[in-house]
Amino acid sequence: METDMPYLSGLRLAGRRVVVVGGGRIAMRRLPRLIESGAQITVISPEVSSAIEGMVRLGEVEWIPRGYRAGDLYGAWYVLAVTDVPKVNQKVAGDAEAARIFCVRADQADGGTAHTPAVARHAGASVGVLGGGDPRRAAGLRDSILRWLRGGKLTDVRHRARTGGVALVGGGPGDPDLITVRGRQLLAEADVVITDRLAPRALLEELAPDAEVIDASKLPRGRFLAQEEINRLLIEHGKAGRAVVRLKGGDSYVFGRGMEEMQACAAAGVDCVLVPGVTSAIGVPASAGIPVTHRGVAHDFTVISGHLPPDDPGSLVDWTAVARLRGTVVMLMAVKHLPAIAAELIRHGRDAETPAAAIQEGTTSRQRTVISTLGKLADDMATADIRPPAIIVIGAVAAFGKAS
Ligand SMILES: C[S@@+](CC[C@H](N)C(=O)[O-])C[C@H]1O[C@@H](n2cnc3c(N)ncnc32)[C@H](O)[C@@H]1O
Repeated sequence: METDMPYLSGLRLAGRRVVVVGGGRIAMRRLPRLIESGAQITVISPEVSSAIEGMVRLGEVEWIPRGYRAGDLYGAWYVLAVTDVPKVNQKVAGDAEAARIFCVRADQADGGTAHTPAVARHAGASVGVLGGGDPRRAAGLRDSILRWLRGGKLTDVRHRARTGGVALVGGGPGDPDLITVRGRQLLAEADVVITDRLAPRALLEELAPDAEVIDASKLPRGRFLAQEEINRLLIEHGKAGRAVVRLKGGDSYVFGRGMEEMQACAAAGVDCVLVPGVTSAIGVPASAGIPVTHRGVAHDFTVISGHLPPDDPGSLVDWTAVARLRGTVVMLMAVKHLPAIAAELIRHGRDAETPAAAIQEGTTSRQRTVISTLGKLADDMATADIRPPAIIVIGAVAAFGKAS
């Protein structure tokens, strides 16, 4: 039988003194989790990295700006010897041993009395892995466990027992990897998923086999009634105690009618949470190499729905004001009305030579990008047969874009 098998334990350090000797890279990596534990942390080191200095300023750790001295471990429950001087670490580990304080020694794992596990957090649970002396193996195994948990491949009993309720989950602009970790987790746990036309379809492949998928883009009747039908379904399934995910493209609160659904659930007494998503307004330009802001170039960006032409009485956009902006204008749902919108912007003063771009189906394998100018973009899009869904970007930053 192995006689030196580490005993994995969960230390409750809240309010207890922890001494970290060293203020460099390793200390910087260990400190956030120690801070989270509520420990009273003292860092002893003549110098600390700027990240640790930030923690000191926030009062998260105390810093004693000098080298280690005998007596520094007094009152400590746990010690980290993480300097880059082996002799110092050895001295700290020796003093800790003599005082019967568990100590992790960074430069020589066997030189201390404890090892730091690779740790993952998942829905309030902690997973700790020791790699049998191989920290990379521990980190790899931890990552795999986390991936399985998040993807629903590893069953977490607490999850399966989740009570019903609705989550409005922003699925991101199209690439299934651009959903948030929380969104993916909720999808893995869902009993019912009500999905939209622009929600990343590939995510549906990963659902539990018994999850019911309702395609909201195929709901019968006109647009308005379809939304009522969606609200009704959310409430019905939520009230029945099912875990419901309303999966949308981008972010649910950016032209996504998320608030209407949130309000409908609230009015019916059904719990509803919002999980933000990467909106196409920012993610899609980025996928074409366009930053919506850039130092010295654009200090503002404005996101506009172009689903109505400028002369439509129902339009809420002040196009005259938009034309005066010097930063970036990002437009969604604007393919059809771009000729009228561009003419309006130019008429009110935006230079026709302003760089402009259109990106169709951004972040997907079908992405296409046209780079042009405000005056010519509509024609160039017609030539390239750019169709919805597309994002239009107007402003100097569009010149960074790469045509594809
Ligand atoms: C009803 S809005 C929904 C926006 C979504 N809630 C968001 O935050 O991205 C639909 C419009 O978003 C834009 N859009 C969404 N996904 C896109 C993508 N992958 N590529 C280009 N445009 C996209 C298009 O302008 C499309 O007409």
